[in-house]
Amino acid sequence: MWNHTEVTKKLSIKFPIIQAGMAGGITTPELVAAVSNAGGLGMLGAGYMTPEQLESDIQKIIKLTSKPFGVNLFVPENPVVIQEEIERANQLLEPIRQRLGIKKKSHLPQINTSVFDEQIQIVLKYEVPVCSFTFGIPPRETIHQLKKNGIVTIGTATTVKEAIMNEEAGMDMVVVQGSEAGGHRGSFAEPFDDSMIGTMALIPQVADHVSIPIIAAGGIMDGRGVFAALILGAEAVQMGTAFVTCVESGANELHKKAILNGTEEQTVITSAFSGKPARGLKNEFIVKMKEHEDSLPAYPIQNMLTQDIRSEAAKQKKSEWMSLWCGQNPRLSKHLHAAELIEMITNQIEEIINKFHLIKETERLI
Ligand SMILES: Cc1cc2nc3c(=O)[nH]c(=O)nc-3n(C[C@H](O)[C@H](O)[C@H](O)COP(=O)(O)O)c2cc1C
Repeated sequence: MWNHTEVTKKLSIKFPIIQAGMAGGITTPELVAAVSNAGGLGMLGAGYMTPEQLESDIQKIIKLTSKPFGVNLFVPENPVVIQEEIERANQLLEPIRQRLGIKKKSHLPQINTSVFDEQIQIVLKYEVPVCSFTFGIPPRETIHQLKKNGIVTIGTATTVKEAIMNEEAGMDMVVVQGSEAGGHRGSFAEPFDDSMIGTMALIPQVADHVSIPIIAAGGIMDGRGVFAALILGAEAVQMGTAFVTCVESGANELHKKAILNGTEEQTVITSAFSGKPARGLKNEFIVKMKEHEDSLPAYPIQNMLTQDIRSEAAKQKKSEWMSLWCGQNPRLSKHLHAAELIEMITNQIEEIINKFHLIKETERLI
């Protein structure tokens, strides 16, 4: 059967479909549980969560599903704080704050890197079945501690080198993120613009160089994409954009609408919102900040600076100042319940198998 893979076996799930952990309130407990209940793996995007928020969401998920689910975390980064850079960025952001009626930014919140350790403790406390990471590789002791407690660990890579590094660090599996992907780039070992490799080129090259199961991400929206990724050597897929527009997703309605009406040439890579390159639908904020991108503070400082703008813009329903993360396949997006999306994908794969007269396992046995 097409759906029996290394990943479905190891995670005890029915279909090799993982809903990406998407930080910022998109992955509601309802979405995570709906995906897991439908036979995929729901993943809570907890990168920006306080330990209390994470604990509360895990408790809600456990009430909604008895199936495996995961938590996605950000490996912390601690960039050098350059005061002049912050002042320059604030000057650029001030006219936008004025247009939104936001008070002048007076101080920068502290970067708290200990939150990550507290998040790990919550994952351990609730024996969350799967813990995935992006923006780097966590310390070996963290990986070891999770694995010792029976938690499956998943890293993120955007190049063959990063996938090998994840394997060497002891990760059980690796998400291989192609350049089509919506949201932040997971690149950490090489300059991000050298690491913009398309999903179709990246998957087979990684498959030839690592022995841990690989999970394909980037531009996968339907049965065609899922089946193609499996043929290229992936053991599962991770889909983000396709789940953003689901009924259970907590994404802002303007974000959902922008993706549902989006076209393939409208997404761009920008560092303007967070200081880290990410793919989203082009809007006025991105256009205005474009020429200054190279001199903005690094992630997460720029992310902190734009936080008030993004949340106020969402409140005022002004999508021109919001981050509208989206992969390169918005025309394939649908407004469905998560279970309907998974059913659509599996039906499409059955159709492909029939169309190409691919031999099914049951037939091979005869
Ligand atoms: C709105 C949005 C938010 C995302 N947030 C995260 C995140 O918090 N953690 C993470 O590992 N990946 C995140 N990603 C990236 C996904 O893991 C995945 O690589 C990407 O969605 C795959 O491409 P696709 O959007 O075309 O499916 C996000 C993607 C989107 C679209």
